[in-house]
Amino acid sequence: MATLEIRDLHVSVEADNATKEILKGVDLTVRQGETHAIMGPNGSGKSTLAYSLAGHPKYTITSGTVTLDGENVLDMTVDERARAGLFLAMQYPVEIPGVSVSNFLRTSATAIRGEAPKLRTWVKEVKETMTGLQMDPAFAERNVNEGFSGGEKKRHEILQLELLKPKIAILDETDSGLDVDALRVVSEGVNRVRETGEVGTLLITHYTRILRYIKPDFVHVFAHGRIAASGGAELADKLENEGYEVYTKGGASA
Ligand SMILES: Nc1ncnc2c1ncn2[C@@H]1O[C@H](COP(=O)(O)OP(=O)(O)OP(=O)(O)O)[C@@H](O)[C@H]1O
Ligand SMILES: [Mg+2]
Repeated sequence: MATLEIRDLHVSVEADNATKEILKGVDLTVRQGETHAIMGPNGSGKSTLAYSLAGHPKYTITSGTVTLDGENVLDMTVDERARAGLFLAMQYPVEIPGVSVSNFLRTSATAIRGEAPKLRTWVKEVKETMTGLQMDPAFAERNVNEGFSGGEKKRHEILQLELLKPKIAILDETDSGLDVDALRVVSEGVNRVRETGEVGTLLITHYTRILRYIKPDFVHVFAHGRIAASGGAELADKLENEGYEVYTKGGASA
């Protein structure tokens, strides 16, 4: 079973000619087959964790380790991370002008699998997955994220997730901007992937809404750049009722 291990991760950014530490010692282990939810208030560093794992150049790892099956993720290029089985869906996905969804998916699958998927089975696989996500087939010919609505971007992410079958998936605010029907459709996609037992999922959110559809095995509260508390699915209900204040009081954020 693949395991993502984050140990005492400290991350800084350069902002206004000063170095600002955002992650202050994150410890987290995600195993293939497990579903973890990270919840926490705005600005607590959740997306910074996702960007750091993705290898975004703006975020400097000042100390700590990240390994996938014992291999140092922080040494890997963005491509190598994807090939190693890491999948990252960002809160604000980028547009790729001139590249269609269908080309993008096939190129990604080829890079990750090490060989081009057989065209006939691939086309069928894409079609079926799009149907499952209630996406119009015409969507496959559009340029990646160009003019996509918020909900379309999120469906496109889950389409990638289902087709690329990573070992560990990090989904940042996959629920934001979704109407109730889209939330259900997207959640069903995540659950399909989960039921394979072959993907470990880290779901970043600040609403418990999505957790009605996707029952996490573990819930972690993020505050001031680290995990302040961990528990089971019941912790999400507690947060819904009580808010984050008990975790954010005291330590000033900046
Ligand atoms: N590139 C950057 N330059 C300057 N400051 C940054 C940068 N990235 C993150 N920060 C700061 O780090 C803190 C954490 O931001 P981050 O986006 O990780 O929070 P978040 O928990 O994802 O919040 P939200 O729930 O609003 O998405 C914020 O104060 C943010 O302004
Ligand atoms: Mg965020």
